[in-house]
Amino acid sequence: MKNILVTGGAGFIGSNFINHILKERDDYFIVNLDKLTYAGNLENLKESENNPNYVFIKGDILNNELVNYIFEKYKIKYVINFAAESHVDRSILGAEVFYRTNVIGTNVLLETARRFEVERFLQVSTDEVYGSLGPTGLFTESTPISPNSPYSSSKAAADLMVQAYYHTYGMPVLITRCSNNYGPFQFPEKLIPLMIINTLNNKKLPVYGDGLNVRDWIYVIDHNKAVDLVLEKGKVGEVYNIGATNEMRNIDIIKLILKYLNKGEELIEYVKDRPGHDRRYAIDSSKIQNELGWKPEFSFESAIQFTIDWYLKNQSWWERIISGDYIKYYNEQYQNK
Ligand code: NAD
Ligand code: DAU
Repeated sequence: MKNILVTGGAGFIGSNFINHILKERDDYFIVNLDKLTYAGNLENLKESENNPNYVFIKGDILNNELVNYIFEKYKIKYVINFAAESHVDRSILGAEVFYRTNVIGTNVLLETARRFEVERFLQVSTDEVYGSLGPTGLFTESTPISPNSPYSSSKAAADLMVQAYYHTYGMPVLITRCSNNYGPFQFPEKLIPLMIINTLNNKKLPVYGDGLNVRDWIYVIDHNKAVDLVLEKGKVGEVYNIGATNEMRNIDIIKLILKYLNKGEELIEYVKDRPGHDRRYAIDSSKIQNELGWKPEFSFESAIQFTIDWYLKNQSWWERIISGDYIKYYNEQYQNK
C-alpha cells in the first residue's frame, strides 16, 4: 500500500484526482488535507468519502504541527501538493494569501517531507510560470520562468524552492506544469464554468479585452492520469509539461458554449481587460509523451460537451456556490468593468 498525502483534494483538480484514482487503484491509501477555503468543497468527494482507502482531514498546509502529525500518524511516503490559491483575478485583488499558501505552505510540506524521508514529492505547478507566448512557439521544460501575475509568481517561487530542495538536500521531487483544465467540479470563477452558468442564467458573459487571448485546454482526467504517472515513473528532479495540444481563443470557447446551449451571442459583453493579461499559452508535452508514454485520451469536442452537460445536470451543486460569498466576489471583480 502506498500512503499518499494529497493536499487541496477538495478543490477542482484534487477531488477529480481522488475520485478517479480510488476507482482505478487499490494500492493507494489517500490522506486528503484541505483547508476548505471558498474553493474547497466536500460535496465533490461524495463518491469517495466511505472508501476504506481514504481519509479527509480539514486543515491548513501552513500548520506545521498538523502536517507533522499527519506524516507521523499515516506514515506518509508520497506527497502530491495540489493545495493552492489558484485564481489569477483573485491574486490581483489581494496577493498576500497566494504567497502564504503557495510559497510558505509548500515550504512547510517540503520541510516535513524531508524530515520524514518521503520517497516522492510531487509539486503540481502550472504552465503560467513560463509567462506569455507570442503568436507562435510552445512552452517546453527549458523555457525560462517568467511569471506575470501574483498567482503565477507564487507558483514559480514554489517551483524554484522545490528544485532547490532537490539540489541542496537531494530530495526526491518532481514538478508537473499543466495547461488550463476543464471538467466537473470546477469553481465558477474560472472561464468555462463561469460562462456556462451565466449562459444558463441569461447573464452577461464578461469577455476580457478583445477575447483573442489563447489558452491550451486539457480535460481534468487527462491531467490527473499524467500526475499519477509522473508520481510513479517520473525521474526525480525533473519537470514535466502536461498539455493536450488544444489551443482555443477565449471568444471561440464562449461562442461554442452559447451554441451548445442554444443561446444568442447578445449575451457577450466585452469588458475591461485583466491587468497583465497573458496573451497565449501553449504546451509542448513531448517529454512526458516520449519518456513516460503518456498521451491525452479525451477529445476536446466530446469532453467539453460532457462538461457542459455535467453543469446542466448538477445545478444544485453550483447554485449553492453562487448563492454565498461568490456574489460578493463577483460584484467586486466585475462591477466596474
Ligand atoms: P482550486 O482552487 O479548485 O482548489 C484548491 C484547493 O486547495 C481547495 O480545495 C482549497 O480549499 C485548498 N487550499 C487552499 N489553500 C489551502 C491551504 N492553505 N491549506 C490546505 N488546503 C488549501 O484549484 P485547482 O484548479 O483544483 O488547482 C489545483 C492545483 O493545480 C493548484 O496548485 C493549481 O496551481 C494547479 N493547476 C491548476 C490548473 C487549472 O487549470 N485549474 C492548471 C494547472 C495547474
Ligand atoms: O494555465 C493554467 C492556469 O489556468 C492555472 O494555473 C490557473 O490555476 C487557472 O486558473 C487557469 O488560469 P487562467 O487565468 O488561464 O484561467 P481563467 O479561467 O481565469 O481565464 C481563462 C481565460 O479567460 C483568460 O484569458 C482570461 C479569460 N477570462 C476569464 C474570466 C474569468 C475572461 O475573458 N472573462 C472572465 O470572466
